[in-house]
Amino acid sequence: MTLLDGKQTAETIKEEIAAEVEAIKAAHGKVPHLAAILVGNDGGSQTYVNNKVLACERVGFDSTLIRMEDSITEEELLEKIEELNNDANVDGFIVQLPLPKHIDTEKVLEAVNPSKDVDGFHPTNVGRMVAGLKAFLPATPYGILQLLERYQIETKGKHCVVIGRSNIVGSPMSILMAKNAYPGNCTVTICHRHTENLAQFTKQADILIAAVGIPEFVKADMVKDGAVVIDVGTTRVPDTTRKAGYKLKGDVLFDEVAPKCSFITPVPGGVGPLTIAMLLKNTLSAAKKEVY
Ligand code: GUN
Repeated sequence: MTLLDGKQTAETIKEEIAAEVEAIKAAHGKVPHLAAILVGNDGGSQTYVNNKVLACERVGFDSTLIRMEDSITEEELLEKIEELNNDANVDGFIVQLPLPKHIDTEKVLEAVNPSKDVDGFHPTNVGRMVAGLKAFLPATPYGILQLLERYQIETKGKHCVVIGRSNIVGSPMSILMAKNAYPGNCTVTICHRHTENLAQFTKQADILIAAVGIPEFVKADMVKDGAVVIDVGTTRVPDTTRKAGYKLKGDVLFDEVAPKCSFITPVPGGVGPLTIAMLLKNTLSAAKKEVY
């Protein structure tokens, strides 16, 4: 069994980005600039956004964190987005999800100019990805592709089973794995909460991608011997022995499943660090005008 070291892979990608930033700076005197809007005080979202801003500093990007109260109106958020759309100084920006219930997430994501949509959540980028055109790919699926590629895992003709169909992970992942590309060319099955006899499908997976958000949901008897298992889960479970007061748990019961696998991602240190690295990669692409 080989551990897919997302932390190390993310470090390598960030080093590659930092080297490019130096070259851009020398040539143009300007560095890529990522802005992030964070609405409210959700603990997980604050950690993610802070990590994104820190990662920007690490690779030499400019970054701006815009914090807004939970109580802001949808109009106020849309105005801020318009401001960033028109700010020539900002190459890309994200609106951290989830948003408060009184705000229409779809409307907000559609307000982002696709050319600055480094999360790849705008319908234009989703459509372009599906059509095989240049697009910003959502960071988590993009990170998983990087892991498969950098560990040279064979995907052609393999059966990839994705558990979860979210707009952020499951749906785009399933589309990308079926594409005529490497990594890709898989036969893909998407499972979700209404799938009957889930294990019957997961046991057939050569590549199993778990993105359900239920800690330790995937047990050993659901996994085929020699499978590649990618765990996207990062649920916070209370743990009083830790300073943070919680522990991150994946969607896979790691200790039981790992011995059966050819490759598996740990949690933490698997997919999570890649997500941030690929957001930076998209921001670099935006600054270099590689997509639009
Ligand atoms: N919430 C959970 N994942 C993500 C992500 O990749 N981007 C944003 N903006 N919000 C998220």
